[in-house]
Amino acid sequence: MRIIARLAAGALLAALLGLIAPARSQDQAPAGDAGKGKRLYLADGCFACHGRVGQGGQYYGATPVLAHSELPFDAFDQQLREPTNNMPAYAEGVLSEQEAADIYAYLQTLSGRGEAKDLPAILTH
Ligand code: HEC
Repeated sequence: MRIIARLAAGALLAALLGLIAPARSQDQAPAGDAGKGKRLYLADGCFACHGRVGQGGQYYGATPVLAHSELPFDAFDQQLREPTNNMPAYAEGVLSEQEAADIYAYLQTLSGRGEAKDLPAILTH
């Protein structure tokens, strides 16, 4: 009985701490693993519309470039959860916050806009 009371108190404390934890500032991205992000980017189909190296594409007219995105993480996350227009939504049950952070970290490793001849996928395939 005492153990249960202690567990309940612990859970309550954890919930309260969660409530008062300071909100993340706009452009502070949570730590992500770029290697996992690359696998997720390919497995979850982002590449089909945004290009294998985030170079953008023709889906729905023009799909935005994601390589070296200047979007702050919060805006990136917002687009995943509630896309502004034609992009399918990725709920947290499908793509967790950590997975979103991993993809974001991966996208930062890609070189941004540049000449088509400089894109690694075009050079090597
Ligand atoms: C079916 C095609 C499609 C897929 C799959 C897709 N997107 Fe998109 N994405 C779009 C389109 C189209 C837009 C332009 C905004 C809109 O229509 O919602 C967009 C916009 C974005 C933006 C905003 C970019 C900017 O600079 O404004 C981000 C970030 C993004 N997508 C990330 C992702 C990620 C990460 C995935 C995979 C988890 C993904 N998208 C999968 C089509 C797609």
